[in-house]
Amino acid sequence: MPEYKLKINGKSHTVNVDEDTPLLWVLRDELNLLGTKFGCGIGQCGACTVHFEGAAVRSCLLQVSTIKDSKITTIEGLSEDGDHPLQKAWLEHDVPQCGYCQSGQIMNAAALLKEKPKPTDADIDSAMNGNICRCGTYIRIKQAIKTASNQ
Ligand code: FES
Ligand code: FES
Repeated sequence: MPEYKLKINGKSHTVNVDEDTPLLWVLRDELNLLGTKFGCGIGQCGACTVHFEGAAVRSCLLQVSTIKDSKITTIEGLSEDGDHPLQKAWLEHDVPQCGYCQSGQIMNAAALLKEKPKPTDADIDSAMNGNICRCGTYIRIKQAIKTASNQ
């Protein structure tokens, strides 16, 4: 199997996997980075969202062979001590219910705030639209994003 060197959360990792292996599988099965979740596997739920050069992407759709030198950030690398403004706001608003979708929600929201530090309600709705929460925590997610954007 081919070898790939990946830059994930500021560290280099070498993996030997098939070229069409999705990044999500590499993260979870090869690198034991289990914060990124498998939901649908077809780009429809957002549970697997990570950052690719700072932009939110679905890691279930990103083939390892296409990553090359690009920087990947997962929920484990979003902050040093879980102290990203969004992570603090998530705690303040007690956002998660079962929690399964939440790392994807936070990573998607973090990419939004990087691009638009003061998003409007419409910006938040538009950016978060594709991240599904079976528990229906959408209202608290939006409140937390607004809190984080005001810090
Ligand atoms: S697991 Fe990737 S979008 Fe659902
Ligand atoms: S908190 Fe359960 S799916 Fe979102």
